[in-house]
Amino acid sequence: MVIKWVKKGRGGIYWPSKAMKKRAWVSDEKIYKEANKNPIKFWEKLAKEGITWFKKWKKAYVEKPPYFKWFVGGKLNASFNCLDRHLEKRRNKVAIFWEPEPKEERGRVLTYYELYKQVNKFANVLKKLGVKKGDVVGIYLPMIPEAIISMLACARIGAIHTVVFSAFSSEALKIRLQDTDAKFLITADGYYRRGKIINLKEKADEGIKETKVEKVVVVRRLGEKLEVSMKEGRDYWWDELMKKAKDYYKPASMRSEDILFILFSSGTTGRPKGIIHDTGGYLVQAYWTAKWNFDLHEDDIMWCTADLGWITGHTYGCYGILANGATLVMYEGALDWPEPDRWCEIIDKYGVTVFYTAPTAIRMFARYDGRLVKKHDLSSLRILGSVGEVINKEAWLWFFKEVGKGRCPLIDTWWQTETGGTLINALPGIGPFVPCFAGRSFPGTRHEVLDENGKVCKPYQEGNLVQLPPFAPGMLRGLYKNHERYVKTYWSKYGKKIYFTSDGAWKDEKGNFRLTGRVDDVMKVAGHRISTAELEDAITRHYAIAECAIVPMPHEIKGEVPVAFVILKPGFQPSENLEREVVKQAEKYIGPIARPAKVFFVQDLPKTRSGKIMRRILKKLVAREKELGDLSTLANPESIEKIREILS
Ligand code: PRX
Repeated sequence: MVIKWVKKGRGGIYWPSKAMKKRAWVSDEKIYKEANKNPIKFWEKLAKEGITWFKKWKKAYVEKPPYFKWFVGGKLNASFNCLDRHLEKRRNKVAIFWEPEPKEERGRVLTYYELYKQVNKFANVLKKLGVKKGDVVGIYLPMIPEAIISMLACARIGAIHTVVFSAFSSEALKIRLQDTDAKFLITADGYYRRGKIINLKEKADEGIKETKVEKVVVVRRLGEKLEVSMKEGRDYWWDELMKKAKDYYKPASMRSEDILFILFSSGTTGRPKGIIHDTGGYLVQAYWTAKWNFDLHEDDIMWCTADLGWITGHTYGCYGILANGATLVMYEGALDWPEPDRWCEIIDKYGVTVFYTAPTAIRMFARYDGRLVKKHDLSSLRILGSVGEVINKEAWLWFFKEVGKGRCPLIDTWWQTETGGTLINALPGIGPFVPCFAGRSFPGTRHEVLDENGKVCKPYQEGNLVQLPPFAPGMLRGLYKNHERYVKTYWSKYGKKIYFTSDGAWKDEKGNFRLTGRVDDVMKVAGHRISTAELEDAITRHYAIAECAIVPMPHEIKGEVPVAFVILKPGFQPSENLEREVVKQAEKYIGPIARPAKVFFVQDLPKTRSGKIMRRILKKLVAREKELGDLSTLANPESIEKIREILS
C-alpha cells in the first residue's frame, strides 16, 4: 500500500498527514517553544540521548566571542558512535549500498560489521604509516566505500581528515594540503565518470608536489583498466596494507572540542578557507538533524546525492546517517548516466525511502520527458530533501509532484559548510511544506533577518540572515590558522555576538524563512560555492591577461554560471584560442565546476574612482537588466555601452 505522507492545505501549502504525524519523531509544534526556552539545556538533553560519550561534559556551553564551545570536558569518538555502538543491535544491517557507475559492474554491500572491520583495519594501517592523533590526513577519493572507511578510520585514531572533492584539480588539492600541512594522502588509481576513466593518481602526484605529504595510500578502484605509477617508499596500495593490518583499533578518546575535520570552502578572497569542525558539537547536530529532518527509522534507506567532498556528503552521506544506524546509498557516477533516469533506477533498485538532492539536479531531471520517471517504481520514497541553493517554484513543484507523487514532504534545508548541519527547514511531522520557503529555525537555534544597520527587519522585508547565540553545536570552530579572516568574514558585520551568514532572506509573520541568495561575492554554480576572487585569481595568472572580472549569469539548470570579462595585456588580440585558455585556467587551478560559461574580451571594465571593479553593474548587464542601480561612484560610464554592445 502506498501511504500518503502529506495532505494538501490551502493556497499551495502542504501539511503532514496523520500517518506522517504518527510516525514522525517530532510532530508537536511545542518543540520549538520548549527548545527556545533554554536552548543549552535542550541540546544537552539531545547530546545525552543521541550520542555515546566516554565521559560526560562539565560545561555544556562556553562563549568567548567570537569563539564558543560545546560540551566542554566531554569525551567521545565519532567512529565509535557510527560503528561500535551499533554492533549489538545492527551487526548485520546494511550500512552502505554502493553502486558503481558502470552498470555491468556489481555493486558492494557493507554491513555495519563489515564496515567496522574495515575501519579498524585501516586505522591500524594509518597508525603503521605514522599517523598520530591530531595529524591531518588528506582524502582525495571518488565516491567509493573507501572514502567513508578513510574518514571513519581517521576519526577512530583522532587524526583530522580533510576531504578534497575528486573533481578538483591538482592545484586545488595542493593548496589544501599546503594549508593544513598534511603529511598523508589517501587517493585512488582512478574512477569512472560518464563512462570515461579518470586518472586520479596522476592528479594526486601533481598535487602533492611542494607539499609535506610523505606517504600516499592508493585504492585500486580500476585495477588492470588503468596503469598508474607508484613511487617506492612513498606510495602504497590500500589492499596490500589492509591484508597485513590488525583487526581492532581501540577508538581514541577525543575531547568534544578536538577537531574532527577541516573542510575547505570558497569565500570572498582568492584562497579557499579551511573551516574547522569539532567532534562533539558537530556529531550531536549531525545525528539529530539527520534523524528529525529525514525522520530516520530502522527501515529507512537514505540516498544523499552529494559527493563526500562537500559538507552535505560529510553530514548526510556519512556521519549523521551512520550515527543513526541507518542505511545509506552511495553512488559513484553521474546521476544521469548512462541514461537520464539512472537516478530513478537507483531509487527503485535499493528501495530508497529518503532522497536528498540539489535544485540543480532536480532541474536537470525535470528537463527530460516526464515519462522517464513514470517508468520506475518510486513508491518506496517517503521524504524528499533539497539543499545547496534556492529552489525555484517550478523545480519544487516538479520534484514534489512527479517524483514524490504528491505523497512525500519536501524538506528544503538551508545550511552552510560553516554550520555543519542543517539549520532552517520544516520538519516532516510538523510542516508546513511551502514551495520556496525553507521553513523555521531548527529547534534550539535562532535566526533573524537584519537590515544594514543591524535592525530586525519586519516580516517580508528583505535583509541579511544571521544566527543568534547560543550558536548551534555544529557550527564551525574557526578557520584553520586564520583568526583574522574568521573574525572578518563572520563576526564583523554585526559584531562578535551575531553570526553573519552572507545570505539574504526575509521571513513571514510565523517565522518561516525564504532565502534570496548570497550577498557576498560567492556564486552558487550547480549548488557549489565558487568565489569570484578565486576564479579571477586563477584566470589572471595567464601571461596574456591583464585584468579579469567574474560575475554570475542566471542559468536554467545550474542556477547560475560564471562569465568572465577579460582585459588583455598590450600586444595580445582576442582569439578563440585565448578564450579556450581562459577556460583552461579555471580548470587548472580549481576544477571543471569553475569553468566560465562565456568569456568576453573587453577594453575597459566599469570601475569606481578608486579603481574597484563594479561587479554589481556587470552582473546586471549580463542578466539583461535595464535598471543598473546607483551609478554615482562610477568613474567610466562609457564602459557600460561598450559592454552592452558586446553582450548583445
Ligand atoms: O547561499 C546559501 C546556499 O548555499 C550556501 C552554503 O553553501 P555551502 O557551504 O557550499 O553548503 C551547501 C550545502 C549545505 C548558503 O550560504 N544554500 C544552501 N542551502 C540552501 C541555500 N540557499 C537557499 N536554500 C537552501 N536550502
